[in-house]
Amino acid sequence: MLGPDQPVIIHMLDIEPAAEALNGVKMELIDAAFPLLKDVVATTDVVEACQGVNIAVMVGGFPRKEGMERKDVMSKNVSIYKAQASALEQHAAPDCKVLVVANPANTNALILKEFAPSIPEKNITCLTRLDHNRALGQISEKLNVHVSDVRNVIIWGNHSSTQYPDINHATVKTTNGEESVRDAIANDNWLNTEFITTVQQRGATIIKARKLSSALSAASAACDHIHDWVLGTPKGTWVSMGVYSDGSYGIQPGIIYSFPVTCEKGQWSIVNGLKIDELSREKMDATAKELMEEKTLAYSCLIDD
Ligand SMILES: NC(=O)c1ccc[n+]([C@@H]2O[C@H](COP(=O)([O-])OP(=O)(O)OC[C@H]3O[C@@H](n4cnc5c(N)ncnc54)[C@H](O)[C@@H]3O)[C@@H](O)[C@H]2O)c1
Repeated sequence: MLGPDQPVIIHMLDIEPAAEALNGVKMELIDAAFPLLKDVVATTDVVEACQGVNIAVMVGGFPRKEGMERKDVMSKNVSIYKAQASALEQHAAPDCKVLVVANPANTNALILKEFAPSIPEKNITCLTRLDHNRALGQISEKLNVHVSDVRNVIIWGNHSSTQYPDINHATVKTTNGEESVRDAIANDNWLNTEFITTVQQRGATIIKARKLSSALSAASAACDHIHDWVLGTPKGTWVSMGVYSDGSYGIQPGIIYSFPVTCEKGQWSIVNGLKIDELSREKMDATAKELMEEKTLAYSCLIDD
């Protein structure tokens, strides 16, 4: 996640009923004999967990189960993220980078931002890299090319079924150089319908198959997100990250929305100036609308809290 020679100390937090299982994970980490793993702290004390951390990957929460909508789990997660925001603000390193994975990821990140006002807003992000990687995977399967030959898909908006996976700027490496994915696939109907819904529904499809939410691919995407944020995106390549909207592409500030970003020297920047067609505009606005609704719902949960 941080390159081939960066030693790490892992702090793991869980709640009391999961303490024994957490200790089992610690044993497995020790048994894996990772050369770069210098120490493991497994704790149920949020202060101890947050103490001095440089990177916080927030996976703790109430997961969505089969048949459950993201909104059902909102109130459970809002109170968790409010509490963890305060602990991070008080005890993490001042430049701590935060990646929220637990759902509803965008809104949990927003709550965390609101309740940790001294953490720079640029340091608070949520995971849409899994959706981004899923889109790359679908395109590479369709074209029968290796996934690393496809780049610059975009996930716009919410990490939910309203997300908009956009391939209008994506390219694929061919023997004749870079070709647009739309031209290479030459099937607008598939791209504008089945491709979009497959990526949007992939999380639910995996839950249905595994009876558990995606684990390996989510962990791998979280590593990719932090890796590129800290070490930079390759030249000419962007990735998708859920970040605090600055109004780019007409998306209202005040929500954590997934944009195409490039990263350099530990800072992300939104890729601006991409042409947005009518279908894209509609889908980008629809997912923004859902995020505004989630925000309203989250705030109503805070009042009840
Ligand atoms: N953004 C994404 O792409 C993405 C992908 C996969 C999973 N997810 C989400 O990530 C989260 C974790 O998924 P999972 O499959 O590992 O779920 P899980 O239920 O296996 O793990 C969640 C863990 O959080 C712990 N927890 C609950 N409340 C806590 C608290 N207050 N403090 C600390 N820990 C707490 C639980 O005890 C449990 O160990 C879920 O919300 C899931 O929906 C997001």
